[in-house]
Amino acid sequence: MRVFVFLLFIVGCWCDIQVSIDQNGRYNISIGNHVWLRSARTALYVDNKWYSSHDNTLPLIDISFAQGIDSNLGHWNETQLNYDLVRDGIHTKIVGRIRQWYSYSAITFHLDTGDQIMTNTVPLTMNTVRTVFPSFDIEQIDSNDQRGYFTIAGEMAGDDDKHAGRWNSSNKVIQSGMNSGPVVLFNLTQRGESDILVLSPFSRFMATSLSQTNNRLEYGVMGSILTIPANYNHSMIVFYSSEGINEGIRKWGKTMQKAFNRTNKNRLNDLTINYLGYYTDNGAYYYYNTEQGMNYEETMINVHNQIPLPFHYIQLDSWWYYKGIGGGVTQYTPMPNIFPDGLQALHRRLQNIPLAAHNRYWAYDTVYKQNYSFVLDEQNGKALPIGNDSFWLDLFTQTRDWGLILYEQDWLDRQTYNFSPTFTDIHIGHQWLMSMGEAADKVEINIQYCMALPRHILTALQIPRVTHARVSTDYAFHLKSETAPQWAIGISSMFADALGLAPFKDVFWSNSYEPGAPYSDSPREILPEREILIATLSTGPVGPGDGINYTNVERIMKCCRQDGLILKPDRPLTMINRLASDWAFYNGISQGELYSTRTTITNQTFHVIFASALKRDYSIYPSMIEAQSGVVWPYDDSTNVSSFSDVNPLNISHCTCSAASICVWYVSPLIQLTESTPTIYYALLGESNKWTAISQQRIRFIDNQIKNNIAIIGLQGAPNELVSINIFHTVLLSTTVTCPMASDTGVARLIITSSNMFCGF
Ligand SMILES: *[C@@H]1O[C@H](CO)[C@@H](O)[C@H](O)[C@H]1NC(C)=O
Ligand SMILES: *[C@@H]1O[C@H](CO)[C@@H](O)[C@H](O)[C@H]1NC(C)=O
Ligand SMILES: *[C@@H]1O[C@H](CO)[C@@H](O)[C@H](O)[C@H]1NC(C)=O
Ligand SMILES: *[C@@H]1O[C@H](CO)[C@@H](O)[C@H](O)[C@H]1NC(C)=O
Ligand SMILES: *[C@@H]1O[C@H](CO)[C@@H](O)[C@H](O)[C@H]1NC(C)=O
Ligand SMILES: *[C@@H]1O[C@H](CO)[C@@H](O)[C@H](O)[C@H]1NC(C)=O
Ligand SMILES: *[C@@H]1O[C@H](CO)[C@@H](O)[C@H](O)[C@H]1NC(C)=O
Ligand SMILES: *[C@@H]1O[C@H](CO)[C@@H](O)[C@H](O)[C@H]1NC(C)=O
Ligand SMILES: *[C@@H]1O[C@H](CO)[C@@H](O)[C@H](O)[C@H]1NC(C)=O
Ligand SMILES: *[C@@H]1O[C@H](CO)[C@@H](O)[C@H](O)[C@H]1NC(C)=O
Ligand SMILES: *[C@@H]1O[C@H](CO)[C@@H](O)[C@H](O)[C@H]1NC(C)=O
Ligand SMILES: *[C@@H]1O[C@H](CO)[C@@H](O)[C@H](O)[C@H]1NC(C)=O
Repeated sequence: MRVFVFLLFIVGCWCDIQVSIDQNGRYNISIGNHVWLRSARTALYVDNKWYSSHDNTLPLIDISFAQGIDSNLGHWNETQLNYDLVRDGIHTKIVGRIRQWYSYSAITFHLDTGDQIMTNTVPLTMNTVRTVFPSFDIEQIDSNDQRGYFTIAGEMAGDDDKHAGRWNSSNKVIQSGMNSGPVVLFNLTQRGESDILVLSPFSRFMATSLSQTNNRLEYGVMGSILTIPANYNHSMIVFYSSEGINEGIRKWGKTMQKAFNRTNKNRLNDLTINYLGYYTDNGAYYYYNTEQGMNYEETMINVHNQIPLPFHYIQLDSWWYYKGIGGGVTQYTPMPNIFPDGLQALHRRLQNIPLAAHNRYWAYDTVYKQNYSFVLDEQNGKALPIGNDSFWLDLFTQTRDWGLILYEQDWLDRQTYNFSPTFTDIHIGHQWLMSMGEAADKVEINIQYCMALPRHILTALQIPRVTHARVSTDYAFHLKSETAPQWAIGISSMFADALGLAPFKDVFWSNSYEPGAPYSDSPREILPEREILIATLSTGPVGPGDGINYTNVERIMKCCRQDGLILKPDRPLTMINRLASDWAFYNGISQGELYSTRTTITNQTFHVIFASALKRDYSIYPSMIEAQSGVVWPYDDSTNVSSFSDVNPLNISHCTCSAASICVWYVSPLIQLTESTPTIYYALLGESNKWTAISQQRIRFIDNQIKNNIAIIGLQGAPNELVSINIFHTVLLSTTVTCPMASDTGVARLIITSSNMFCGF
């Protein structure tokens, strides 16, 4: 038995991240031999008074050890810091647990707040915390210590207030506890390409926060929460990776998903993620705007009948339901001036095309409070279903008759920080999101989160029906101000995707000018192609919102197969490590948007590189995008194929890839075709008339039969669709072959030999 335990111990040793704990309960986290984090205090605010390990009002009594097995993450061992809280002569045992995992390069910190209720009548603010464990100094350890950080924060999945900088004692890493999200810490000397830590809440996402006091990073229960029940606990994770920012965040997210048993099943099956749809939200042509002389019902029917695009659903934004106090929802049914025949009839008149519908915060005067349990906040004019009755199920059952397949919950932030029950009660926020999610699961509809704070995105780990989230501000702001880079979702996409949600860029226009749109200040889309490209490569929804006669069908169809199935990369397009690191290195000033993504077919991996709004020049080497050597070609000229390797980097100029332009390159492996000499190679370049040149939705397999001097590429599409594939061949050079897909099965084969390329079935 001893031997068995010993073996587990050795096998599971993550020697790269270590925690050391001394007799006084102080702890350090080290990477290699370098200290990265040193503990600050353990503390509690209760009975309107602070108790802290620093001034011995929360004394450490002893240290104990334990080990165990978590059903999702496996073996752990932990060091327990046992504190004695004495209030009015009553002792409460407070336990801080520092847990190490045998199979994960992570340390988790758990605080048990003991068997007594803890209340305050003079609460702290929602931007601080009232329990503190763990806490770390934000400090430059010595003069060789050059570390940077970035963090997501604020609405739109943390896109709005994201920021970066040096990890030193004068920087404000967390600007607001309520808005805070995970923090990524990395070595600037390594340009963010090796050692990183992700610091993140690990449970109780709606009720706990990361917060900062002076130069201390503290984690615990939000300061505004009035009562902590007996036997409560919360936890935070410090996750380590040696594989750089992108891969590290992905691994952290995988661990979080594992901890909560999250699967990607609903994301993969979500029709609104897989197919082209039509949007009517803030930035769309028909946002509180109809065709002249028509109502919304007629306008939506015209959209459906007159735009020659394969839309698979239509999104209805906030303009159709009843509103009351403070603009909140009173009743989630259509107003007769909008849809005179009702949504069920509209659905039929739209030939049963599925619908996606928006919702916002509940108004104080919502009609539903008559028949269901709602918690109310008169001062803020809002209400919220408690979730202990059939409210959500009844609501969603009604929407099923409308053909609703996606419920968009918007204004999550206001319903949280502008509604006192959610920021003063420790359970209500969590119950709200869980009860919504459980009802959605029962009626099998998916949920999109919009205006979500990082805490909502984290909570979605426990709500399998939340499949995607908006990751940048409303498109309307971009139309009104050309400099607002609403499309720049390369950071927020990392987080949403890591936690299992598809990032959503929002609606866009496919034309620069759309007279009659409901926006002031001469709205203009300076680069429609950038919008379509980003939406397509995001792996989230692609939802144009053009006026009927301003739709550029050819531009939009660069997203998709003829039948509207979106051609996607395997992962969202995200900012490369170097640029994320430089954002911190230059004290939080972005150096531009330089992104990459990838697709693997059989065992060959293809990459996309995107650049825009660059402030400086970059040379991209294969390792910087986690690629191998191969060939590279620019999106606008598939005949311009050059080598891409450690000796032939891709040089990117900020003059060419400016704020008003896009640069896109595709990287493909050079594949051996023949055994004969001289050896012939080919590279599959893919579809130059689609943004995702190589996608799993199009390429079924790559079968390299070197012994037979032949390669067979399996293709798929809509029946009879004509698919143009570009190939680079060392003898035939750049060639385009157009293959028809079989009229019955929708598949075809492209055959490449030493002297020829042709299609077959
Ligand atoms: C827990 O296990 C790690 C190795 O995984 C080991 O380094 C550490 O000493 C153990 N801690 C305790 C308290 O047993
Ligand atoms: C933490 O590291 C500092 C040096 O930076 C050292 O003085 C201290 O003893 C360490 N504490 C623990 C608990 O390892
Ligand atoms: C950062 O990386 C450099 C180069 O690998 C190394 O010398 C330095 O010690 C690292 N810093 C920390 C804090 O780990
Ligand atoms: C922290 O970093 C910023 C930006 O580099 C710098 O201006 C500031 O002086 C540094 N503060 C300390 C205490 O080193
Ligand atoms: C924390 O609380 C939850 C729910 O009350 C419980 O299931 C869990 O076991 C607790 N965790 C620890 C480490 O005590
Ligand atoms: C996850 O699934 C495992 C096995 O299916 C189960 O034992 C465990 O309780 C689940 N965990 C959570 C957090 O739901
Ligand atoms: C509340 O329930 C009553 C009785 O079933 C029903 O008549 C009424 O329409 C309901 N009100 C709302 C707003 O659903
Ligand atoms: C839900 O909770 C409220 C408030 O605690 C209570 O009045 C109501 O009866 C509960 N409803 C159900 C169905 O349990
Ligand atoms: C769109 O253009 C067609 C053909 O020019 C025209 O008949 C129709 O009225 C236009 N529709 C709108 C909404 O302007
Ligand atoms: C891909 O798989 C084939 C056969 O399974 C193998 O011969 C080839 O070396 C693999 N290529 C790569 C790049 O791994
Ligand atoms: C080929 O593409 C490279 C960038 O990859 C560009 O610098 C060069 O000008 C292009 N050549 C031609 C002939 O267009
Ligand atoms: C690309 O930039 C590197 C330095 O970053 C330089 O050595 C090389 O000559 C450049 N290549 C081209 C083709 O301009």
